[in-house]
Amino acid sequence: MALLDVKDLNVRFATQEGEVHAVNGVSFALEKGEALGIVGESGSGKSQLAFSILGLLAANGRASGSITFDGGEILNLPEAQLNKIRADRIAMVFQDPMTALNPYMRISDQMAETLMQHKGLSKRDAVAQAVEMLDAVKIPDAKNRVRLFPHEFSGGMRQRVMIAMALLCKPDVLIADEPTTALDVTVQAQIMDLLGDLRRELGMATVLITHDLGVVAGFCERAIVMYGGQVMEQSEIDPLFAQPTHPYTKGLLAALPRLDADSTMTPIRGNPPNMTGAPTGCPFFPRCDFVKDICATTMPPLTTFAPGRARACHRAIEEVAA
Ligand SMILES: Nc1ncnc2c1ncn2[C@@H]1O[C@H](COP(=O)(O)OP(=O)(O)O)[C@@H](O)[C@H]1O
Ligand code: SF4
Ligand SMILES: [Mg+2]
Repeated sequence: MALLDVKDLNVRFATQEGEVHAVNGVSFALEKGEALGIVGESGSGKSQLAFSILGLLAANGRASGSITFDGGEILNLPEAQLNKIRADRIAMVFQDPMTALNPYMRISDQMAETLMQHKGLSKRDAVAQAVEMLDAVKIPDAKNRVRLFPHEFSGGMRQRVMIAMALLCKPDVLIADEPTTALDVTVQAQIMDLLGDLRRELGMATVLITHDLGVVAGFCERAIVMYGGQVMEQSEIDPLFAQPTHPYTKGLLAALPRLDADSTMTPIRGNPPNMTGAPTGCPFFPRCDFVKDICATTMPPLTTFAPGRARACHRAIEEVAA
């Protein structure tokens, strides 16, 4: 049985304009120790998918379907039970560290609180472990800097502090939602390297959420490509890059900056879809270079076509690959 098993997940938000269908029938499994990427442009439903795992949806949101973790259903669990899982077994890292850090508390107190609550440590032992973890994420002079407040760190260092906080209880699963998007390119690479090292050391399964297919390439074994709240393609990493079978994945790849000077990057034309109302047809059809009549009315099913690979598209693979 997979460590984390998401089945037919739907997330809807009630708004004045109507019902927003943010996640539509998404299924995937995460194995122990595995790194899975979830990729898609902004607004494709990635964060809401992550939030439903930890019960963090906004008050106007509802999730349905099933999410099992370590064999037990965790979707829509009561707050008290979710609190036991959060941080201890499934931890999350966000784009903005201040989402997770309390601006008014010293790092030592915030980190110690988590360890005292979940692991029953004394304050003194908890602070010692917090320092160890800050060392592990390469915060210089951790022993003294553990006493600082979040705003006393630079952006990159604050991101490291949040990672240290997330990893404190040595969770089985880390969900990292755009962990480096707010950082400059050099710091981005450092943070991804650090996450990779820690993941291997702790044997932790990781869900890496990003709009950047390039970030996924270096980090994940497998990826899910999402658009309009739906899974477009699911594949092991190497064939996804060598032979994308879906027009949307092809578009994302063509939009990646290239190192070789001859090739140019081409952004996908048009805008991401409006998610209000039930989806009809393939959500990508207004922007797709391969569109045909049926695309506007019927969503293609996600179909396995090779071991470890599945796609949802009305066009044949040969037509897209050509
Ligand atoms: N509280 C909310 N009320 C209404 N719509 C929401 C709410 N939160 C998110 N959405 C919508 O859900 C869709 C998916 O959002 P999100 O998962 O955050 O996208 P991503 O993380 O892929 O950028 C977007 O259209 C967004 O506007
Ligand atoms: S189903 Fe149609 S619109 Fe959607 S990606 Fe395939 S060809 Fe394009
Ligand atoms: Mg997001």
